[in-house]
Amino acid sequence: MKREFSAGFIVYSEDAGKPKRRMFLFLVRENGALDMPKGLIEKGESALVAALRESKEEAGLSLERVPSFKTGYSFFKRENGELVHKHVTLFLARVPAGTGIRISWEHKGYKWLDFNDALKKLYKDEVEAITMANDYIDRIDEMDAINREYSRLPERKGWSLSKRLVSGEGPLNSEVMVIGQAPGRFEDQSGRPFIGASGKLLDRLLRLAGLKREDVYITSVVQFFPPKNRKPSDEEIRMCVPFLKRQIDVIRPKVVVLLGAVSAGTLAGKGKVMSEHGTFVEKEGITYFVTLHPAAGVRLKKNVPVLENDFRLLKKRLQGKRTVQ
Ligand code: URA
Repeated sequence: MKREFSAGFIVYSEDAGKPKRRMFLFLVRENGALDMPKGLIEKGESALVAALRESKEEAGLSLERVPSFKTGYSFFKRENGELVHKHVTLFLARVPAGTGIRISWEHKGYKWLDFNDALKKLYKDEVEAITMANDYIDRIDEMDAINREYSRLPERKGWSLSKRLVSGEGPLNSEVMVIGQAPGRFEDQSGRPFIGASGKLLDRLLRLAGLKREDVYITSVVQFFPPKNRKPSDEEIRMCVPFLKRQIDVIRPKVVVLLGAVSAGTLAGKGKVMSEHGTFVEKEGITYFVTLHPAAGVRLKKNVPVLENDFRLLKKRLQGKRTVQ
């Protein structure tokens, strides 16, 4: 059977109103059907490159992808008597309200629709894609609000951590969230979590669990660097944890991996990681998985196989829980 791959963008804009009005862009075909800017992936092109090219050609837009969001669907269609299996990949992009659209000969017009109006006019697969995008945008707004508030914590009297918030990284709808202790010096310099030696080991461990770094949400209990890499104090943890809990609520992960004693002790009450690692804990509707901090493997080689075994256990558990491959 013939297979065809196409890619495009779910494009949205939000105005400055309160509440903000969120509108999605659709191109109108000759037969009146609505379409997103999308088209066939050409030979040698990645899905993203094709999506960027198509949105330029079909709507005159130079888009910047919302990091990490990607969805897709597939369906069968008969074309000239032949059954074709079509696969669609969609990315997400935000444009300023009032952005000009320049359509090509392929469409007769365009429409901006709010979420509810869009739902009435789309096919089932497209409804699912737009619903996922709309939910993702809500999460972006919620996470931004949390991080804006969190980044003001250093204004408090007596603050002795770095003033730079190293916020989490990864898809806001990840099924797996990974939580370490606190950023290190490299993380503080770059503003990204787990990019030093522990991060390299973590990436490898995630692969053992069948996960790619870009598919999980990675962060720490305390998201400010404690100078000289000291352990965060109980008071610092107490100040930071409410923000972390709100972040977990935004992500709504299926499993939260707790790296090391600070993380496992704070969130699951399992601070004795050397004896409690490799265990799953259900608490307040969340499934936690307790393991060592990768730094323990960087410091002491004999901890590496312990970590590896734990991540293999995690893989087994995820295989039973995963909804998206
Ligand atoms: N260790 C952590 O716990 N968090 C980071 O971001 C980096 C190292």
